[in-house]
Amino acid sequence: MADTNVALIGLGTVGSGVARLLMENADRLARHAGRRLVLRQVVVQDLKKPRDVRLPAGLVSTDLSRITADKDTQVVALLMGGVEPARTIALKVLESGKDIVTANKALLAAHGEELFARARELGRSIAFEAAVAGGIPIIANLSQCLSANQIQSIHAILNGTSNYILTQMEAHGASYADAVADAQRLGYAEADPTMDVDGSDAAQKLAILAHLAFGAHADWEKISRAGIDTLDLADMRYAKELGYRIKLLAVAQLTAAGLELHVSPTLVKLGTPLAEVRGAYNAVSVVGDSVGRVFFSGLGAGQMPTASAVVADLIDMAVGRAAITFRTLEMWSATAPRVPISDFQNVAGRYYLRFHVADQPSVLAEIAGLLGKQDISIASVIQHEDEAAGVVPLVIMTHNTTEGAVSRALAAIERVAFKRGPSVRMRVYN
Ligand code: NAP
Ligand code: HSE
Repeated sequence: MADTNVALIGLGTVGSGVARLLMENADRLARHAGRRLVLRQVVVQDLKKPRDVRLPAGLVSTDLSRITADKDTQVVALLMGGVEPARTIALKVLESGKDIVTANKALLAAHGEELFARARELGRSIAFEAAVAGGIPIIANLSQCLSANQIQSIHAILNGTSNYILTQMEAHGASYADAVADAQRLGYAEADPTMDVDGSDAAQKLAILAHLAFGAHADWEKISRAGIDTLDLADMRYAKELGYRIKLLAVAQLTAAGLELHVSPTLVKLGTPLAEVRGAYNAVSVVGDSVGRVFFSGLGAGQMPTASAVVADLIDMAVGRAAITFRTLEMWSATAPRVPISDFQNVAGRYYLRFHVADQPSVLAEIAGLLGKQDISIASVIQHEDEAAGVVPLVIMTHNTTEGAVSRALAAIERVAFKRGPSVRMRVYN
């Protein structure tokens, strides 16, 4: 059987891992694909950069036209980050008659509709297993193995960098800055880690999952999101005291009113599978109407786990499976049925609230009253003695309420005279 010729754009963390798998495990991959996957070209930005993979002389260049002009290359793995010039390069690759495998979720979340439409027009395919949850095969599972189901909810840890940072801080007492630097050194973080820690990366991945699982045309920038970048160690301690652990949770929940989508640091009950996901691991908990709950876990960032997903897509392209999935999925297609996205203010749930207040009579009663005015019922309260003179933190867990009610109550509490600092609110997932 004829070889499948592959080119890479990008030879950074992920690209080097993919090159290594292709070079060092060629026989194994050939057995799994029924043909050889041959690495023909690699394009990078800077030829002088040291690489942690050895490639035959002449394979690497900075000239994209060497790939687009090569009639014998069938598949291109687009392994550079960001939106532009990645979008322009992806269009050029498709127009040169090649299929694309990519790990770039920022590109798909921003321009999936355009790229998928162009690929369909040109009879080409795009595969993107590595774009969500790294080594976890969540795209294949949602698009194939769970396709008999109406997916009802997804609760997921989708950013390895954030989960690594939270684990380092909570379990090893690391500072936030040291944990971010470690995540960069280990190849988990994006080139600019801002989007990892502010919830944007997880929102981009959630938008992709929402397209796949619910047919929702979700604009990731409109997904309500908060990250771990403003998290206070005190809240991690209070969460533990209350029997929870803070995780950056991405949620898609189908309700009668539409699809709820949000990303935020969330208190997750200790001992439940999501709370126990550590380090750069990701997890995706999916509920389908027939299958019930299915839980996936694995490394969501890092060189070889991500390369594993990219190379699986390359094999699927070589075998022809990816083209079938691409055609049947109709992802980002204008004709696909649309699910309305719910207004975040109507999203229900329990909340963790923390206030810094003056240590004086009737403060607790007044806060309880302002919460009560919004029909928010208190489930438990923590107030420790001996904090800084005259000021105490007041931690409140609520019963079920809505985001809108909490926003209105916090706005009212903001105006009271006894308040001594910003309030904290986090959702709670049991
Ligand atoms: P990276 O280490 O920064 O590597 C990016 C590569 O792209 C570099 O080799 C760079 O070339 C190349 N590049 C940038 N602009 C280019 C251009 N205009 N033309 C040709 N090559 C260009 O990034 P990464 O961590 O491998 O991530 C790559 C993609 O995978 C991103 O979309 C990321 O979000 C996604 N991803 C990463 C992980 C992870 O764990 N790292 C996991 C899942 C998905 P030079 O080396 O010459 O600068
Ligand atoms: N920076 C991303 C993360 C890489 O930490 O999850 C995987 O997409």
